[in-house]
Amino acid sequence: MTYKICLLAGDGIGPEVINSAEQVLSALPIAWDFIHASMGYAAYQQYGTPLPDFTLDEMRNAHATLLGAVTTPPGIPNYFSPVVRFRQELDLFANIRPCQTLPHPSSQPGIDLIIVRENTEGLYAGVERVDEDKERAVTERIITRHASEQVIRKAFDLARSENRSKVTLVHKANVLRQTCGLFREVGQGIATDYPDTEFEEMLVDNCAMQLIRAPEQFDVIVTTNLFGDILSDEASMLVGGLGVAYSGNIGQDVAVFEPVHGSAPDIVGKNQANPIATLFATAMMLDHLKEAEYAEKIRKAIFSCMEAGEVPQDLGGSQTTTETTQKIINRLDI
Ligand code: NAI
Ligand code: MG
Repeated sequence: MTYKICLLAGDGIGPEVINSAEQVLSALPIAWDFIHASMGYAAYQQYGTPLPDFTLDEMRNAHATLLGAVTTPPGIPNYFSPVVRFRQELDLFANIRPCQTLPHPSSQPGIDLIIVRENTEGLYAGVERVDEDKERAVTERIITRHASEQVIRKAFDLARSENRSKVTLVHKANVLRQTCGLFREVGQGIATDYPDTEFEEMLVDNCAMQLIRAPEQFDVIVTTNLFGDILSDEASMLVGGLGVAYSGNIGQDVAVFEPVHGSAPDIVGKNQANPIATLFATAMMLDHLKEAEYAEKIRKAIFSCMEAGEVPQDLGGSQTTTETTQKIINRLDI
């Protein structure tokens, strides 16, 4: 079996962290067919679009995709976010962001939660307009029964498959009565299909506070697009921040894994980028490919480097990107 993996290096430090992932994957006794494709500002400069159709085709045809990061160039009218767009085009309806205590001083103890965020609609549906006099702008928030069902069911299935006991549905239905009302109603219905899993609801502002106050109370959180975007960045800071935060975009047949951070123009080309977020995303991809044994080996190697303090500058160490990558490979235990 050879896995076909689409690698989207993107912009800025994207190529540096994707190179790290390619090296780690190549060190495993698994056959890979890496397809390098273009996305982001570099793609725009070369092809006139940040998301060429042939890139979408490669993503559809691959067993999985790994994305580095893209730059959003200022001041180009009609430029669009290729990340938001591919999530919609490929119907990657769930964005899954695990958040676990890491063996590192910047990580709080006792945290083991997963945020499952609706990934294709809500306030990010892209339905926006501004009045001619520019005195009023409107963004429509779209919540459908179908997308809500898909993402909430995914959260419950994940809870079941990972032996997790609780799903917290986060909303603001007291104010957003129609949109959050529908999301909540769908969740209440699905919860009855999973009697073994505890179901609770929480208002989003309270959830933002509870994540700081007592993050260990959470297990699986499921929520709408914008709320999930904000809460998952907040949660990532509890366990070490951007250098370690990662996510998976999951659809029925297609999956794209990525670090949470952006293209970090301030450190590009300096061999300073922390590759660990991308390597955690790589491990998540291996889990998705049912290569859990090797996913675990990557995570163990990362933990071991963290315990030894062999980490890049953003985590208080002094390792370069290439040194960190090599030390993780050395600890792979293959
Ligand atoms: P950023 O995540 O690129 O950087 C924020 C800060 O964190 C910077 O100081 C950067 O040096 C540091 N940082 C980020 N990743 C790091 C890593 N792996 N190792 C060490 N330090 C790291 O966010 P920023 O500066 O707001 O955005 C820069 C560009 O990235 C913008 O064009 C933005 O639109 C884009 N972006 C892209 C994302 C994506 O591709 N998914 C996500 C977020 C931003
Ligand atoms: Mg975000």
